[in-house]
Amino acid sequence: MRSQQDSAGGLRHLITLDGLTRDALTAILDRAESYRRLPGQPAYEGRELAGVTLANLFFEPSTRTRASFDLASRRLGAHVLNLDLHSSSRAKGESMLDTIYTLEAMNTDVFVIRDSEAGMPEFLIDHVAPHVSVISAGEAHVSHPTQGLLDVLTIRTHKRRFAGLKVAIVGDIKHSRVARSAHQALSTLGTTDIRVVAPQALLPAEGEFRAAQRFTRIEDGIAGADVVMMLRIQKERMAQSAFLDDAAYFRDFGLDAQRLKLAAASVLVMHPGPMNRGVEISSQVADGPRSVIREQVNNGVAVRMAVLASIAATLTRHRRPL
Ligand code: NCD
Repeated sequence: MRSQQDSAGGLRHLITLDGLTRDALTAILDRAESYRRLPGQPAYEGRELAGVTLANLFFEPSTRTRASFDLASRRLGAHVLNLDLHSSSRAKGESMLDTIYTLEAMNTDVFVIRDSEAGMPEFLIDHVAPHVSVISAGEAHVSHPTQGLLDVLTIRTHKRRFAGLKVAIVGDIKHSRVARSAHQALSTLGTTDIRVVAPQALLPAEGEFRAAQRFTRIEDGIAGADVVMMLRIQKERMAQSAFLDDAAYFRDFGLDAQRLKLAAASVLVMHPGPMNRGVEISSQVADGPRSVIREQVNNGVAVRMAVLASIAATLTRHRRPL
């Protein structure tokens, strides 16, 4: 694969957090903080993406990620194409590459892609023109880099550090790109106590999540935790026969107010959305005083602005002058 960074370390693409240094992650988080606005404040409006055309290619459902890439790119002055992919040419059998080449011919500079096929973002990086960037908005179960960044930005805002934190990630770890990217970001930033908590069948393969301890009882996994990140069960990535009973899952692994008392008093409760209330989390906890779930959404826009601005700065160096 071509590298995500150019020879000067500038971000060209973003499809994984793997290989990005602590300094590179910190620079994105710092930039994101400068773009973040509190609810009620006017949004930042800039020109960092003036003259840039960005295409959102979402081949899997998305609400937050797609809306926030759309807003982030418009707030920095880009032209944005949101393609309706259910009625698009790929549905008619055109190959992904032909779609990409067509959009490149319209001077698209940045492709944001979400796809259920592992390896698709990397495949695109290998085929786009040298001045074109690819950003993953979720690759199968493999990686969701901007989600990992918004999760660590949310943690940093409240905890001001990563070393010494106890972070429990609870739910369908096996199929979760969110968990994989959070684990990568946290371990790069210095968190050493990461716990993955799931029923045996939803734990990842041995050899994955090397920085984490494994738990099959939520009570043990969240004990004393500073952060509890809950995940949705990824039914779309399972055979129907593997479906768990929702009520039994909530009984054994759901986060309710009673269980939350096992975590640190200052715990942050996180969830990437979409939430299934009463399956992985109770409404009382999701809407309660320890929840930072809506802050995560706000940080998602800021982080995507930061990633886009970094990539645009690199692109400017690779673009042909008029
Ligand atoms: C997640 C995703 O699509 O990976 N959602 C998101 O991007 N906020 C998590 C999920 O779908 O459960």
